Amino acid sequence: MTYIQTVDPAHAFKLLNHGPTVLVSAAHGGKINAMAAAWNMPLDYKPTRIAIVIDKKTYTRELIEASGTFAINVPCKAQTELVVKLGSSSGRSLLDQQPDNKLQAYGVDSFAANEIAAPLISGCVAWLECRIIPEPHIQDSYDLFLADVVAAHADSRVFSEGRWHFDGHDDLRTLHHVAGGFFFSPDDGVAVQR
Ligand SMILES: Cc1cc2nc3c(=O)[nH]c(=O)nc-3n(C[C@H](O)[C@H](O)[C@H](O)COP(=O)(O)O)c2cc1C
Repeated sequence: MTYIQTVDPAHAFKLLNHGPTVLVSAAHGGKINAMAAAWNMPLDYKPTRIAIVIDKKTYTRELIEASGTFAINVPCKAQTELVVKLGSSSGRSLLDQQPDNKLQAYGVDSFAANEIAAPLISGCVAWLECRIIPEPHIQDSYDLFLADVVAAHADSRVFSEGRWHFDGHDDLRTLHHVAGGFFFSPDDGVAVQR
């Protein structure tokens, strides 16, 4: 927990700029849930805005639409199996069971966000707290949600001063889903003088 630092909103888009697969968490009326989402992207900065595809059949979407908010958690290599588990089971099927949510069922720890109700998933390397920009047409037609990032946090071991640096932290490298449960993880990056 001590590694978690507040990120300047002007840098928050960089937390998504390299296209990681993320975990989307949401909460409403005492219910919590999380799912995997590979289709997400930064849309703007100042203010930082993002776009993400959340399918109609997901239980997470129900909580997102009810609360108007959600969190994007950026998971790392050490969490690959968790990403696949959260992305291939639905919280809806647990509602009448004990435990009644995927986070508890899979032993996932979380901590409180600053601005929204959604839990932030421990062990991830970045967290973006998001508030939906209501666009009923694109939500309905394309399952596409636009959102303002209202707060952001990152693990300072791998993100500081507005840039990622994974060197020496292999398990904390982000995950990039290609297809069928196969992921890439980024190398150390290449810098170009401008
Ligand atoms: C690697 C991976 C990436 C995924 N990306 C997306 C995505 O971008 N959008 C989406 O709606 N579902 C995506 N899914 C599927 C959801 O995570 C899945 O439907 C999940 O079971 C929904 O859970 P819920 O019903 O508890 O909300 C992805 C699944 C995996 C494994």
